[in-house]
Amino acid sequence: MTIDEARSLLHEWIEAESLRHHCEMVSVAMTAYAEKLGKDEAEAFDWKLAGLLHDLDWEKEPDAHPNHALDHVFPKTDLSESVTEAIRAHAPERTGKQPETEIERYLYACDELSGFMHAVSLMRPDGFGGMKAKSVTKKLKDKKFAANVSREDIKRGAELIDTELNEHILFLAGVFEKNT
Ligand SMILES: [Fe+2]
Ligand SMILES: [Fe+2]
Repeated sequence: MTIDEARSLLHEWIEAESLRHHCEMVSVAMTAYAEKLGKDEAEAFDWKLAGLLHDLDWEKEPDAHPNHALDHVFPKTDLSESVTEAIRAHAPERTGKQPETEIERYLYACDELSGFMHAVSLMRPDGFGGMKAKSVTKKLKDKKFAANVSREDIKRGAELIDTELNEHILFLAGVFEKNT
């Protein structure tokens, strides 16, 4: 699958601009981490695809997400098993699969936090510009802010990639500042 094919699949399944944007953000985050970790081109491309396609069926099949895509959409593509398993593991409570491999752990770690940081960026005149870890952690403590985002998942994500939450936030803020 080329990136253009992945994007047209995404657009076929998702109409909402906000959800498309979320998928692009997670893809950018995954690409940046793949680079940081020195992954080769083929592996980095898998990381990018995992980010881009992880919520493919969320809009059309919210109750069956992500199992619908895993059972009925991805098998018709040439996506590698590492990508589909990462997508399976981003929603352990729905699939029964916990994040274990590196791509699985990083996808889990980037998903909720990207959504939360996007919400924080919308409250700031400069968006991601000059965003500090504290701008985000302060909002994490405000339970009413982006209340649908699980603080537990964000905390667990940072633990899974063995990174201080502040460091994870700061890295992504730099990435999003340049790429969104
Ligand atoms: Fe999801
Ligand atoms: Fe997501």
